[in-house]
Amino acid sequence: MYEIGKVDGEEIREEENRQQQKSEYDDREGKNILIDNFGRIAKKLRVSVTDRCNMRCMYCMPRGNVRWFNEQDILDFSEISRLVSILADLGIERIRLTGGEPLLRPNLKNLIISLTQLEGIKSVSMTTNGLLFGEKARELKDAGLESVNISLDTFRPDRFKAITGINGLNKVIDAVNTAESVGLNVKINTVVIRGWNDDEITDFAKFSRDTGHIVRFIEFMPLDGSGFWRSDLVYTKREMIELITRNLGGIMPLNHALHCDLDTNGMNHKNNSNRYSNQIHKSDPAALFSFCDGRGTIGFIPSMTEPFCANCDRMRLTSDGRLLTCLFENPGYDLRNLLRSRKSNQYIKKKVTENMRKKPEGIIKIIKTKTLKPSLNLMHTIGG
Ligand code: 5AD
Ligand code: SF4
Repeated sequence: MYEIGKVDGEEIREEENRQQQKSEYDDREGKNILIDNFGRIAKKLRVSVTDRCNMRCMYCMPRGNVRWFNEQDILDFSEISRLVSILADLGIERIRLTGGEPLLRPNLKNLIISLTQLEGIKSVSMTTNGLLFGEKARELKDAGLESVNISLDTFRPDRFKAITGINGLNKVIDAVNTAESVGLNVKINTVVIRGWNDDEITDFAKFSRDTGHIVRFIEFMPLDGSGFWRSDLVYTKREMIELITRNLGGIMPLNHALHCDLDTNGMNHKNNSNRYSNQIHKSDPAALFSFCDGRGTIGFIPSMTEPFCANCDRMRLTSDGRLLTCLFENPGYDLRNLLRSRKSNQYIKKKVTENMRKKPEGIIKIIKTKTLKPSLNLMHTIGG
């Protein structure tokens, strides 16, 4: 059970992080980089292109009438591209488009085309609820999209409606299959909430084992906007691993699974490689696991019990043009105003660099000091 104020394995991770950051810093010495006072370097940017959504997930959206950003406050594509190119000059390499639901933004493919052409940008990916993704998968792939994370929390139609407010389960499952078939890397994001969908953890793990799709289980964070979050609703990574192991047999961290001699049926699969093994990145918040025979890839994002803050390499841009160096920063720094008052790239760079310096330690600090409370920020305005 999750207990506020406790985090698992923290000292080891912090030391590993210091070593890694140091060597990366040495490599890049002399270049413009975004580095904070804890030595963390930003390489990834999540761009929320809209706060609107065609779902109402209870763990994300506020209940009742949502106050959306004004249309004129939302950055247009040329403003986003300009900011991304400035940030690319400061070492940002990977972009993830988020929302709300990013596909509610008309002609999103045009933004993908321009972002992929910017110097220094190595990849553009997207997080979507999948409702509109199937029909656009091909054009997005052709525009240069590299990978997609699709949110899916249940396989049961009635529960899907209860969680998201929409009857859309089949559309989302179709989107997963279409994304795969057009050649995109696909990950499924599953937010686990005790009493809501923890009884499907095993089904999701089985699904990954049977289909090869990567499933990442996310611990519920206090970002729902409706004050619904409570510590006892957090189903922890440790509990998930125990449950999966009990029901389906052993799982191993992915890099170990490749060296596992025997699978759960006693078969030898020493040379079996998992197709995601080349995707293990130290800065990935998900610890990836596989069953011992290399089949299935499941990840855990233990945002609450093992906060990832010490290894965080990302920053965020909201659709109304605020820079958030941390998910839990509020309201962030207004870059839209700088763009629209015709400030130079050099000036904007200076401001971004100054803000990055002051990046807060993160949720880890909030947890340790027991100042955690529901609705720390609104997920639908940040995009995860
Ligand atoms: N806690 C954890 N994850 C969340 N997401 C949205 N709200 C929360 C929350 N309160 C995840 C969704 C989606 C991504 C954008 O963020 O699963 O995949
Ligand atoms: Fe929309 Fe995503 Fe939030 Fe669900 S989690 S309401 S799909 S933005």
